[in-house]
Amino acid sequence: MSTPQRVKICEVGPRDGLQNENVTVPADVKVRYIDLLSESGLQMIEATSFVSPKAIPQLADSAEVFRAIQKRPGVRYVVLCPNLRGLERAREAGADSIAVFTAASETFTKRNINMTIDESLRVFGKVIHEARAGGMWVRGYISTAFGCPYEGVVPIERVVQVTNALFELGCDEISIGDTIGVGVPTQVDALIPRLAQSVPLDRIALHFHDTRGTALANVHAALQHGVAIFDSSAGGLGGCPYAPGASGNLGTEDLLYMLHGMEIETGVDLANVRAASRFIAGALNHAPTSKTFLALEASSASTA
Ligand code: COA
Ligand code: ZN
Repeated sequence: MSTPQRVKICEVGPRDGLQNENVTVPADVKVRYIDLLSESGLQMIEATSFVSPKAIPQLADSAEVFRAIQKRPGVRYVVLCPNLRGLERAREAGADSIAVFTAASETFTKRNINMTIDESLRVFGKVIHEARAGGMWVRGYISTAFGCPYEGVVPIERVVQVTNALFELGCDEISIGDTIGVGVPTQVDALIPRLAQSVPLDRIALHFHDTRGTALANVHAALQHGVAIFDSSAGGLGGCPYAPGASGNLGTEDLLYMLHGMEIETGVDLANVRAASRFIAGALNHAPTSKTFLALEASSASTA
């Protein structure tokens, strides 16, 4: 398997990033942030969630935000839906792409969505069926695929089983997440060939967190197996709820820097992503964690 020449990035800052920040960003600031990201050439942006506002108060304004963003042609704006109620709300707000989300470990699934994995697959079966009947595109997320904050090691067979189930339910793409940033490249080497036996690799995305500094090493390993879709967050937005103070999602700037340096195309302009990170940083109570972002800021400050 050769390294892909082109990679698709799913930008998760506005959802995964903002929901893990400890300040709630005003709706108009979210809208401007998403609009800035839309100008960068990204093909996919996870815009918000239609979940219970009690579960995720940071995204309680999802309908208002989703309606107000400028929908740029060629960009897919994905919203998370945990149940049929979420799907209905997403549809009312005008969404055409949704994501359902479960996990590879029971305790995390229970705490995140108050369901067992099997229950979640039953609920999502209905959500995916309805969504597809209405012409929507569907992404499936599997959290804790490389380790669980409550259960520790997660067996590969469990990840494969949940991936197969989501694929059979009709997901167009499945994003496999290292929710707590514990994964290492040998885990990627073991997982991807196993997944490729039952799900086409061009439907698989990987979602790494950089909590322990292994995210890019994991991306590099996945590239060697032909994976060509990665999730990341502008500025590295979103801390880790299980390790307060630690960094969360892989920064989009870091991913772009490495991919472009390896002469892998993304169609995304790093300068535009950096501008979006700079903008949103003004609404947060800490600096972005993306190393490339920080290096660029430092070098422009020293030459200014
Ligand atoms: N949108 C808005 N509100 C919703 C909703 C949705 N999609 N689904 C449920 N609710 C409301 C219910 O009306 C109820 O409100 P009430 O207490 O005022 O009556 C409340 O949320 C609880 O609903 P219930 O059906 O009893 O579900 P629950 O308490 O078992 O919670 C989820 C299940 C899935 C709704 C909730 O855990 C959730 O939204 N989780 C999302 C977590 C998340 O986004 N994690 C990050 C992604 S990895
Ligand atoms: Zn994440």
